[in-house]
Amino acid sequence: MKNPKAMYALSYGLFVLSARQGEKDNGCIINTAMQVTTEPNRIIITVNKSNYTHDMVLATGRFTLSVLSEKAEFSTFQRFGFQSGRDVDKFAGFEADAVRGDNGILRVTKGVCAWLSAKVVSTIDLGTHTLFLADVEDGDVLNSDPAATYTYYQANIKPKPQAAAPSEKKRWVCVVCGYVYEGDFLPEDFICPWCKHPASDFEPLP
Ligand SMILES: Cc1cc2nc3c(=O)[nH]c(=O)nc-3n(C[C@H](O)[C@H](O)[C@H](O)COP(=O)(O)O)c2cc1C
Repeated sequence: MKNPKAMYALSYGLFVLSARQGEKDNGCIINTAMQVTTEPNRIIITVNKSNYTHDMVLATGRFTLSVLSEKAEFSTFQRFGFQSGRDVDKFAGFEADAVRGDNGILRVTKGVCAWLSAKVVSTIDLGTHTLFLADVEDGDVLNSDPAATYTYYQANIKPKPQAAAPSEKKRWVCVVCGYVYEGDFLPEDFICPWCKHPASDFEPLP
């Protein structure tokens, strides 16, 4: 590829993908959601197989997308995108900012401008991810705040990396979530511990 940064020119939204399996509520941040047909009204999402939310959507065939707006706070990304529902209850302490929909799934209300609930109609195994094709069953607009794009998140929501502390070590920043890796070199197979993106999404810090 002449310039891998060409991939950054693709535009994405940002969403909390939520699901409920048994008594367990959970959700994760995704940027990979889009409408693919109008009649029927269908969307696709792709979710990393290592995400707990992935297994819940695969098992139940239902999910809700909370569309994050430009008012979304970084703490929402930390809560839903930097930790796994396998380890924590992400909705604990978040009761005031979430509501349970008719499909039984919790959705986020803070920093969110719209939501869509959907039913999976087919899946494609993409190796690292599963692509879910789903019928939109319901949805609503909550306010007129602009939906956040990935570019807006990078420029305005994600904190800027701290000025380099005096250190012998080199530093690389994950361009997706802002995690900073320190070391002599960045291993090729390094996976960001926060957002699970690969070493190719890291840039060296001065
Ligand atoms: C800005 C941002 C975008 C992300 N986009 C995706 C995505 O499109 N697909 C995905 O599977 N994970 C994505 N993630 C990573 C998941 O949100 C993250 O791994 C989460 O901790 C998984 O939680 P879970 O195990 O409870 O499902 C993204 C994270 C961030 C911070």
